[in-house]
Amino acid sequence: MPLFEIHNWPSSNELLKVAAWGKSGLQTKFDDRSAQQMTALLLEALLSKPYFKLKLENTLLSEPELIRFKHQLNRIYDGEALQYVTSKAHFFDLELFVAPGVLIPRPETEELVVLAESLSPKNARIIDLGTGSGCIALALKHRNHGMEVLAADVSPEALSIAQKNKKQLSLDLELFQFDMLSEEKLPGKFNAILSNPPYIPEHEKRDMPAHVTNQEPALALFVPNEDPLLFYKALSRLARQYLLPNGVLVVEIHEDFAQDVKGTFLDIGLSEVKIHKDLQGKDRMVSAVNG
Ligand SMILES: C[S@@+](CC[C@H](N)C(=O)[O-])C[C@H]1O[C@@H](n2cnc3c(N)ncnc32)[C@H](O)[C@@H]1O
Repeated sequence: MPLFEIHNWPSSNELLKVAAWGKSGLQTKFDDRSAQQMTALLLEALLSKPYFKLKLENTLLSEPELIRFKHQLNRIYDGEALQYVTSKAHFFDLELFVAPGVLIPRPETEELVVLAESLSPKNARIIDLGTGSGCIALALKHRNHGMEVLAADVSPEALSIAQKNKKQLSLDLELFQFDMLSEEKLPGKFNAILSNPPYIPEHEKRDMPAHVTNQEPALALFVPNEDPLLFYKALSRLARQYLLPNGVLVVEIHEDFAQDVKGTFLDIGLSEVKIHKDLQGKDRMVSAVNG
């Protein structure tokens, strides 16, 4: 049964009334604060204006806008992620298009970008492997215009979403299909290779929230239980082959595998291997130097 019955409408089409109506519906499932935040974010996305402005103007919603809002509230109530409902996710100050073909960018991945910047020369040639929405590569290019940034993914769906984001943000980025687990060749050498690869062992799926496992692509999340380091082994081989001397490999990791990833990188001959914590104090990134 949908949350908002077809005959149940707000008492008026003024924004404040519509917002109160939306919030009260979501409060039947979520706590007050979440209901409030989600209502505001939905209205912001729907009407393409900051919520404080909409409130100040007490904007009037048209009938099609009200119908869309009601439909979106029902999707949220049914457990869909807000970012997929609005088709928008924020990464640094970029607004990215997202759809269920790509992972919703996580805030901790911004820390990977900052770390990579601190370890790379200003005009570095950098590649992001497993780019998904393109968040890492696009943020890097947006923040460092002098860098040459390339990005690749095995998923055609992810590539078309990254392409859309590249166009929307007017950023210069070379995008192409590439399978990290194959013997395919990369175009030239790099000062840095970055990746936030799939790293969650399949057995953890049962403990994860349904909105993640049901909606986000399994290809972006999971690795086989028997080989959780699969992508880090591939990335370390690629680093030895395609990093310039003193080039860096910077990866996001599962907090439980920091020492194993470090060991994998040392085994192949990378040096200065370091584990970095995220802002929550969890082991979240590993960097290594080809030299
Ligand atoms: C954890 S997601 C990261 C997405 C994005 N970089 C981010 O941080 O939000 C991992 C990405 O790796 C891609 N991927 C999975 N297997 C791959 C492979 N064999 N080669 C290249 N990319 C792969 C997935 O399609 C997905 O986009």
